[in-house]
Amino acid sequence: MSESNIPHKSSNSHEKIEKNVGLMAVLIAVAVSFGGLAEIVPLMFQAEAIKPLPGVKPYPALQLAGRDVYVREGCYNCHSQMVRTLRFETERYGHYSLAGESVYDRPFQWGSKRTGPDLARVGGRYSDDWHRVHLTDPRAVVPESNMPSFPWLEKNEIDGQQVAAHMRALKKLGDPYTDAQIQRAADDVAGKTELDAVVAYLQGLGKHAPRGG
Ligand code: HEC
Repeated sequence: MSESNIPHKSSNSHEKIEKNVGLMAVLIAVAVSFGGLAEIVPLMFQAEAIKPLPGVKPYPALQLAGRDVYVREGCYNCHSQMVRTLRFETERYGHYSLAGESVYDRPFQWGSKRTGPDLARVGGRYSDDWHRVHLTDPRAVVPESNMPSFPWLEKNEIDGQQVAAHMRALKKLGDPYTDAQIQRAADDVAGKTELDAVVAYLQGLGKHAPRGG
């Protein structure tokens, strides 16, 4: 008879598992993957999570080029594009972000690490001229800003062939670009600088967001 009053059977399956590290590891893996599947698989079939919101279209050529510059320059290191479902966020930025707004974002720009403000709703908040000055020399319009200057953007021209190639690749991945749009891409960005492109991209952000807080 054991000293404790707790019933104790040596064939207890719990004990078997706890004393066998290999078996325990396998069972933990099964339990965790089951949890993962239960969370992830339904998302793949939820229309709300995979369908674009009304009006959301693949980026026009110039905006797509601007998005590439945005990613290249690492703007995402300081700026998220995801308004969280918190009151102080929706009051500052607008409606919280929905998955259907960023179905054409590859890579997506969600995140919560911010040194500067969230940019998901920045489109239309400032004039094109404001952005041009701000990107070239942030301190000229926001004296206390610690955002870096990007003076080379206005000197670099956009390569139309590269934009067209990017659109073709996105089309292969399923983005509904038309052949006409791709053929026109090089003309659409002809003579435009990287600064023009980034400004066009920023001004398009949040355009199809739901209204209100
Ligand atoms: C080192 C961090 C950092 C990087 C990198 C950075 N920013 Fe910023 N950004 C800031 C800070 C801080 C502010 C707030 C002060 C200001 O307006 O300049 C800001 C403000 C902004 C604003 C105004 C937002 C608003 O609602 O007032 C825009 C637009 C912007 N940044 C765009 C960009 C773009 C585009 C890039 C990349 C080319 C970039 N930023 C890179 C830190 C950064």
